[in-house]
Amino acid sequence: MTIGTPLSGSATRVMLLGSGELGKEIIISLQRLGVEVIAVDRYLNAPGHQVAHRSHVIDMTNKQALKNIIDLENPHYIVPEIEAINTALLAEVEAKQQSIIVPSVKAVQLTMDREGIRKLAAETLSISTSAYIFARSVEELKEGILSKVGFPCFVKPTMSSSGKGQSKVMVESDIEDAWNYAASGGRVNQGVVIAEAMIDFDYEITLLTVRSKDSHGEIQTNFCEPIGHRQESGDYIESWQPQPMKIEALNQSKVIAKKVTEALGGLGLFGVELFIKDDNVWFSEISPRPHDTGMVTMATQKQSEFELHAKAILGLPVDTSLNNAGASAVIYGQHDAKNINFSGVEEALSIKGIDVRLFGKPESFKKRRMGVVLASSENITLARENATKAQALIIPIIK
Ligand SMILES: Nc1ncnc2c1ncn2[C@@H]1O[C@H](COP(=O)(O)OP(=O)(O)O)[C@@H](O)[C@H]1O
Ligand SMILES: [Mg+2]
Repeated sequence: MTIGTPLSGSATRVMLLGSGELGKEIIISLQRLGVEVIAVDRYLNAPGHQVAHRSHVIDMTNKQALKNIIDLENPHYIVPEIEAINTALLAEVEAKQQSIIVPSVKAVQLTMDREGIRKLAAETLSISTSAYIFARSVEELKEGILSKVGFPCFVKPTMSSSGKGQSKVMVESDIEDAWNYAASGGRVNQGVVIAEAMIDFDYEITLLTVRSKDSHGEIQTNFCEPIGHRQESGDYIESWQPQPMKIEALNQSKVIAKKVTEALGGLGLFGVELFIKDDNVWFSEISPRPHDTGMVTMATQKQSEFELHAKAILGLPVDTSLNNAGASAVIYGQHDAKNINFSGVEEALSIKGIDVRLFGKPESFKKRRMGVVLASSENITLARENATKAQALIIPIIK
């Protein structure tokens, strides 16, 4: 492989579809390798727009709008950062060999909603998951929960992330509200929901799994150390690495991650979400791209999840090794307002081992993720303590 010169006829061009905080870091990693990057998002001045060579604002579910931008920029690689994309067009682009879709159209299509990936894992690959049903009406949901899934269970839109539209259902009388909430919280494909039996796990992890080429051009699978995390209302608020695990559970996690990523194919980094209880492992879901809980790797690994993704995509070898323990803690907007300020960054940075990322989102919402605190330390207990302390010092304010 070769990498060209940006902004010239020889440039290696990558287009990001979705340019939030994860896309922004992928772009920075690509820029460091001398790649020309085009950032696309649905709103102006998205985090990734601010660090790319060029940017566009379009509705990525609109086939024609997406086609126009791909034809205009003619990227060598297209890197989806979100699920809500017109995948029929991506399939046409891949079939024509116009651009390489990362990691593959199959991966993007199957992970676009919970139905595709859940059926692949549980039914095609026979991997353990929670009991589940898909429902297209409130009656179907009620019937499925009562006959197959049981209580407590989680009801979620098939197309959503960060816990949007998700609720925990304890008793039959909760079902109707859960249906209404899921139907309003989903992004596209409204009206299809999944009900999943609750897994009473000891802890949950993200196993970052990388499919990359080695120096002989053979595809190999490498794993980062497991990342532990804490979620509130389905949204990640804190993560740490390495999560201590029994060797049996870790080995089983790797077997599952390898199976699923191999089935999805292509090159790149995947975030495999797993629930662990003692030696038992359940597959939950997977992102065919860097994972929000994996932001901790910016403080812990030789190569962050973003560098790993960038290198793997381009066909370069990767190093998934850990440098030191660490943690991350999310900074929420706390206000519904535009052009917000952050105070206390200097106090936060005076704590040993702390670093901060502010994403630069033009508009804040109370529960919108606006930044993250990163902590490096000798162990995860100290790292979590420091990350939480530093996070509390950073206060979003309206001037
Ligand atoms: N079946 C389940 N059993 C136990 N906890 C669950 C289950 N489903 C979801 N959760 C909790 O909710 C979080 C978010 O759910 P997830 O399916 O990952 O949604 P999202 O796509 O929004 O991240 C999980 O990380 C976990 O903490
Ligand atoms: Mg998740």
